[in-house]
Amino acid sequence: MIHARIAGTGGYLPGEAVTNDDLLKRGIDTSDEWIAARTGIRARHFAAPGVTASELALVAARRAIEAADCAPDDIDILIVATSTPDYIFPSTATLVQNGLGIRNGGAAFDIQAVCCGFVYGLAMAEKFIASGSHRRALVIGAEVFSRILDWSDRGTCVLFGDGAGAVVLEASSVPGVRATALHADGSNHSILCVPGNVASGKVTGDPFLRMDGQAVFKFAVKVLGEVAQEVVDRAGVSHDSIDWLVPHQANIRIIQSTAKRLKLPMDKVVTTVDRHGNTSAASIPLALDCAVRDGRIRAGQRVVIEGVGGGFTWGAALIDF
Ligand code: ACO
Repeated sequence: MIHARIAGTGGYLPGEAVTNDDLLKRGIDTSDEWIAARTGIRARHFAAPGVTASELALVAARRAIEAADCAPDDIDILIVATSTPDYIFPSTATLVQNGLGIRNGGAAFDIQAVCCGFVYGLAMAEKFIASGSHRRALVIGAEVFSRILDWSDRGTCVLFGDGAGAVVLEASSVPGVRATALHADGSNHSILCVPGNVASGKVTGDPFLRMDGQAVFKFAVKVLGEVAQEVVDRAGVSHDSIDWLVPHQANIRIIQSTAKRLKLPMDKVVTTVDRHGNTSAASIPLALDCAVRDGRIRAGQRVVIEGVGGGFTWGAALIDF
């Protein structure tokens, strides 16, 4: 049987940290106390004007490839999860493939599952590898959410940041990604969305992120608790065997309630939301990379990742490192 193991991780945050107080200086009617108490966020990073998701992705990808000790041309499938692609087309994945100098004719495509995009990408890559059709996958979450924020809407613009995270997954005889679960419920599409488009050379609809915060909060807490349990059950392992939970980093209160459902103390939960804000599809691989590089996540340990995003979409994976 062919398994898929994580061979390397990489991450990239653009520019300097922008604190909650910096947002006040930029004219947003908010306070550090309000943001920190409700979300746990203290800072986030924003890409400079003109910097694109593929540029952030490229840096994270190079770091993951280096950590995996392979060459770009060893990557035979490249998946980018993003809701803020460089263009309508071509895909951000093909731009990253070109930027990495990959000329092996491997597959490259984007997926759109908003904040759950990385979990969707990882689950898909695992299935390509397990089928034997591909040997080495690069899965990236990359976002420039600052481009779709309405700076006059203080209920949303303080929550998000820009960044990219990446993992290299490779074929192995030893189990790595042991269980995955992916879900969606389109009936909730309107509680978190960017309900606009470009048509006939003009923006149609609304090009900014809109959210019913309380509805999103309730939905996220419910499904994240359920889906984490689902992958634990599918893998047939006990809660005690989980070393780390690496959740989507939207809000510390959502993270705390999921940890409670899994009976995990907070010192087993990787959190970056205080420093990164919500970087959507990038948040899980960025958090994973932080914990791998600072030595918390080590070979032989068991990790659950989980995400929830607009659509609504949600999912999880149980991974042995
Ligand atoms: N600073 C100061 N005051 C603010 C701000 C702000 N940035 N934003 C809103 N307020 C005010 C509102 O105007 C309102 O004032 P009023 O009572 O005078 O009318 C008051 O704060 C309460 O507003 P609510 O929207 O009811 O605040 P709530 O307690 O629901 O908190 C929040 C909002 C933080 C968004 C919360 O609903 C939440 O955490 N939701 C989860 C959403 C989330 O994490 N989304 C991330 C994206 S989704 C994802 O990644 C899956």
